[in-house]
Amino acid sequence: MSLFNVYPLNPIAITKAAGSRVWDDKGQEYLDMYGGHAVISIGHTQPHWVKRIEDQLHAIAFYSNSVVMPIQEELATALNKISGKKDFQLFLCNSGAEANENALKLASFHTGRKKIVSFKKAFHGRTSLAVAATDNPSIVAPVNETDNIVFLPFNDIAALQKYFADQGTGIAGVIIEGIQGVAGIYEADDAFLQAIRKCCDDFGAVYIADSVQCGYGRSGQFFAHDHAGVNADIYSMAKGMGNGFPIGGILIAPHIQAKFGMLGTTFGGNPLACAAALAVIEVMQQDHLIKAAEEKGNYLINALKNTEGVKAVRGRGLMIGFEMEAGLEDLRKILLNDLKIFTGEAKPNVIRLLPSLAISMEDINLFLTGLNNAIQVLKQKKD
Ligand SMILES: Cc1ncc(COP(=O)(O)O)c(C=O)c1O
Repeated sequence: MSLFNVYPLNPIAITKAAGSRVWDDKGQEYLDMYGGHAVISIGHTQPHWVKRIEDQLHAIAFYSNSVVMPIQEELATALNKISGKKDFQLFLCNSGAEANENALKLASFHTGRKKIVSFKKAFHGRTSLAVAATDNPSIVAPVNETDNIVFLPFNDIAALQKYFADQGTGIAGVIIEGIQGVAGIYEADDAFLQAIRKCCDDFGAVYIADSVQCGYGRSGQFFAHDHAGVNADIYSMAKGMGNGFPIGGILIAPHIQAKFGMLGTTFGGNPLACAAALAVIEVMQQDHLIKAAEEKGNYLINALKNTEGVKAVRGRGLMIGFEMEAGLEDLRKILLNDLKIFTGEAKPNVIRLLPSLAISMEDINLFLTGLNNAIQVLKQKKD
């Protein structure tokens, strides 16, 4: 049987990993500035994380959500503390799309309304409502098409206020990434997030902060939306939450009330996933990784801004995108094939850096040296 061929693959088989390094099946070492797409938060195969999962595996891997699970409560308490979202409630699931799907459903259940405001270039996942709220028609199947989602321009306060003034009483929620990832690393302005908060308050709508990629400390705050100084009603999380162990979840403000049967999942919140998520929080706290993301991010962003050939740099903390001058389009290929450095991309011309928050300064400097060398090679080819 063949694999369903949906991914354009690099012909590299990664079989081993540690920290910010990965190795292929031939023993070749690579520097991972991509973090497996923003997933590796505390480092590949981090020892405490491995031990926590191993210990849990020996105790119990799975039971259904029909029984009390103390480890879920332990995770809820740890999340309240690290996020600063006191009294928020936790619902656990398995992925980012699922987190957003549940957040959107909950906004609709809570308000009894149907309309969702999303934004141009947004990416929220591939399940039915999440993909409908994603601004990319090529991944929306006919069955996912719905009039219930409207796409407004990103960071346009006047357009937002006008839409609320016209349609506010029908709006269930607004969903927005604190930093748009797939779009190519575009930050939501603080004033824009504050305006969303105000519109949602004025019209009784739910503010959903998609923190799947930009959350979990990556921006230098636990949630990138926190930079704006206002709370959302629901935060969706996944990627960095399990450091590679599949887990997602939503944090839900205290005024949104649960009802039996409203949401549910078989695998969500299983003990193994909770053990992985707890290990991530423990390491983040012990090693001050959120502060590290801020400091290392500032260093990297400054260095990129002063790199010859780099045209634009965007992002915050260790969620960075940069664009190259014309003629340097092959940079990412050279980084990977010649210098053995993994990076991410956003079409057509953005290189994305999403490394582990625990990456060392040595590795950051190694990347910067590699980048400069690659640019010189390309420039020489061009001249
Ligand atoms: C902002 C954002 N939301 C949601 C998702 C979907 O997450 P998942 O692939 O885990 O379903 C992604 C994935 O890239 C994302 O970047």
